[in-house]
Parts: sequence; structure tokens; C-alpha cells
Amino acid sequence: MDIFAGDPRSADTDLVIVTAFEGQASALANWSAATGGEIDRAVASKEFIGKLFETFVTPIVEGGYRARRLAAIGLGEEKSFTVDRARRVAAAIGHTARHRKIPRIAFLADTGLDSPEMMQAIAEGLTLADFDAGSYKTAGYDRFELTSVGLIVDERNRDVAERAARRGRIIGEHCNIARQLDNEPGNALTPSVFANRLAEIARSGGLSAEVLDHHELERLGMGMLLGVGRGSAEPPRLVAIRYEPTGASASPVLGLVGKGITFDTGGISIKPAADMDRMKDDMAGGAAVACAMCALAELKAPIRVIGVIPIAENMPGGRAIRPGDVLKSASGKTVEIINTDAEGRLILGDALWYAQQLGATHLVDIATLTGAISIALGKITSGLFGTPVSFVEHVRATAERAGDRCWPLPLFDEYKDQLRSEIADMMNTGGRLGGAITAALFLKEFTGGLPWIHLDIAGTAWTEENKPFMPKGPTGVGVRTLVELAFTSHIWSDVGAP
Ligand code: BES
Ligand code: MN
Ligand code: ZN
Repeated sequence: MDIFAGDPRSADTDLVIVTAFEGQASALANWSAATGGEIDRAVASKEFIGKLFETFVTPIVEGGYRARRLAAIGLGEEKSFTVDRARRVAAAIGHTARHRKIPRIAFLADTGLDSPEMMQAIAEGLTLADFDAGSYKTAGYDRFELTSVGLIVDERNRDVAERAARRGRIIGEHCNIARQLDNEPGNALTPSVFANRLAEIARSGGLSAEVLDHHELERLGMGMLLGVGRGSAEPPRLVAIRYEPTGASASPVLGLVGKGITFDTGGISIKPAADMDRMKDDMAGGAAVACAMCALAELKAPIRVIGVIPIAENMPGGRAIRPGDVLKSASGKTVEIINTDAEGRLILGDALWYAQQLGATHLVDIATLTGAISIALGKITSGLFGTPVSFVEHVRATAERAGDRCWPLPLFDEYKDQLRSEIADMMNTGGRLGGAITAALFLKEFTGGLPWIHLDIAGTAWTEENKPFMPKGPTGVGVRTLVELAFTSHIWSDVGAP
């Protein structure tokens, strides 16, 4: 990320990006001379009025500029403007530049866009735009990458901008690494491959990472993770990542747990064929945890963080678990399997237990857990569950700033009746009604009473439509929230205290 401080004329780029609020596009009049009057004409004719994501691109004709073109993009109404809008606008203009094959772009962060939070968000957005989903195409495909992305800032903002842009770039890049993994087909990203990739990512950020194979999982008694893995020829794994910065106090220890199902056929309770291909991204939570940890380590977060990613392929093989089977979890609790497609909660239950063995004092899990969450919240908002309420509200507010919208759903004890089993401590499904809630309550049984957050990202990890700021495909949801949580422990570290 380049910082161009001072006169935009000297910014060494191809495209200068400027912004305007809706109805305030006349503020762009100072670009009149540079564009030979084109910007005034567009504003006067209402071709450009500053509506959100509205874009106008025109040549720069005045000598003295290094850039050859100017792009104006709308910020929407001033009263609705947020840090997340800044991020999305930056991503949208980044995509426009790529479609137009303009390799070097610089975003003018002027008044209102020049706070550290805004500049970081713009850097994140520009970085997110530089994601390419076509990695397996061999022909008829033009892979176009941005070669230089920058911010143009006032001279007095240079240092703040440097720091904000670096932070935004690192976070954005790690979202993109997670998206890359989410996009990988199940045949390429088997449990062992996924586990090794996550360990590599962690080690590249200076973290220690351990990959447990099925022998070690047996020794730990992880009957639920092993049970889910039994139907596949590819045995399960568990990745444990540790971030222990020197000088950090002994507590809190943030325990991040991410679902890592490399492909979810449903197992013996097999899914219908339609859209089953989508189940290659059932490891999005696991990828988010590892990528967030790598980013927060590079950014030197001040607290200890532990990442636990249970990994398996849910397949209907000859040794697969069946409905009616009873599995014993590492925590000792027994579970009657009603539906083998409710596998995420099984592997997460063992992983939540393991995060406690490794010393976590606060737990946050993230998982593509239930179809029911998209019935409740659609594809815009992730489900947010947890305890205590103050922790839940802190995560909600943090996620909103980070651009990962989520909303709380209840965990009333009465729902637990739906999980009651005749033969074991509980069943693994609670029926159709309140499906996302009963899934969360199942997880709660494995949290040991610690402060705990569960993010259900089944509706948000993948978009089915192209949006100006995010193309169809993996979104990298959760990475930014998890990173920011590691920097706000002064707010949440005492939520569990008696
Ligand atoms: N991985 C799925 C959840 C999912 C569904 C993710 C759609 C993304 C899009 C999960 O393992 C699952 O199959 N859940 C079941 C639970 C049910 C059997 C209780 C579901 O939601 O149907
Ligand atoms: Mn499933
Ligand atoms: Zn699943």
C-alpha cells in the first residue's frame, strides 16, 4: 500500500479516486480544471450525483498530473455514512479499476475519510478488491491484478496513514487468503491438506502450530470429531495454533474455534444433489480463525490467543456413523446421532473442550453451522449467540465496525428440551424449529461455563449474487472481527468475572 502525501498531482498512479456524498457532488468542482470541465458537466447533468457506488470515470487532461484518469465514486447519503461504507466504496472502485484494466490506483482520503479507522477501512476495501476466484481456469481468462494501490493524504497525515494503510492491507490480505481457501474444491482441500495449509499460514506469521492426526485424537478421546471423520477415506485432523506475545499477561486467553469440514455431503443422512457443491466452503470458519490469527500476530495484538480448528470430511462411507449411534465426546458427555448432517456441532464440541485444555479463558467459535440461520437472518447477517450479554454486545459492535454484520439470537434454556435423548446425554439435532438456536445450545454444553460467543456464518460465508463491493463467492466473513477482538480485550476481558 503506497502513501502519497501532499499534492495529488504528484501521486505516481494511473487513477485518482475521489468521492462525494449524495447531493453534494458539486463539491467536486475543484477537479474541474484537471478534467477539462467534464466533472462539472457530469454533476450539472446529474450523470453523477453521489449515490452509493455510482461511478464516473474521466480523463485527466491538465498537465502536471502523473495520473491519466479520475474516478468519482458516490458515498451515498452523508447521514448514513459509516466506516463499513467507506470499506465497501473502496472495494467497489477497486473492482471497477480491475474491470477496466487500470493497474495502479490511489484513493484520495480527504476530509471525513482521513481518520485512522476510515483510512484502514479504505485500505481493507482496496485490498479485498484484489481477489481472483478463477484459480483453476486455463483458457479464455484474463487474470488482472492491481499492481499498485495507495492512499493520497494530506502531508500532516502521512504517519497516521502509513500505519492505518498497513493495518488495512494486512487484514484485507488475510481475508483474501481465507477466501482462497474457501474457494478450494473438496478434492484439492482434503483434511490433511487443509490442516497443513493452516499450519503453514500460522507459521508464516511467526506462530506455533501443531497438527494432530487421528491417533492423537484417539488418545484425547475426541469421539465426536473421530465419529464425523469415519465415513471418509481421509482421516480427520485438528490444528492448534498458539500466539503468545512476550510480555502479555497470563489472562485473558482468547480461544478461537473454527469449523473445518472440508466437504459436507451430509454423511448417511445425505444431502440432496442441488447445490451440494457449495458444501466445499464448510471450512470457512476454520480458515477465518487461522487467517485472523496470522494477521493479529503480524499486527502484534497485545494478548494471548489460541486457535483450534477441528477438520474432517463428512462422507457416507462403509464405516460412517449412522443415525441412532451414540458417540462419546472428549468432555465425557454422550450424544445420540439423529442426523449425520448435523456434524459441525460434533466436531466443534470436542474442539471447544480442547481450547479449554490449552488454557482459553474466553471462547469464540465461528462456523457454517446451520441452514436455519439463513431462514432467520437471510444472507446479510451472521447469527450471534453467547453469554454473558455484555460479551455478546461487544462482539456485535466490533463486528459492525469490521463490516461483518451479525445479530443476537436467544439461548433460553427451554429450547434445550428439543435436544433431550432417551439413551444418551443429548441428541445432535433438535428438529426444524429454531434450528440455529438448538445448534448453539448444543455447543454451549461444551463451553465449561466460560464466556463464549458463537457466530453462525452459514448464510454469510458465500454470496450468490455479485455486489458492487463483493463478487459472487467466498466473502472471508469473520476474519476482520476476530482480528479486532484481539485488540479490544481491555473492554471484554472481565466479562466473565464474578
Ligand atoms: N454445513 C451445513 C450448514 C449449511 C447449510 C452451511 C447451508 C451453508 C449452507 C451443516 O453441517 C448442516 O448440514 N446443517 C444441517 C443441520 C440439520 C441436519 C439439523 C442443516 O442446517 O440442515
Ligand atoms: Mn452438515
Ligand atoms: Zn456442515
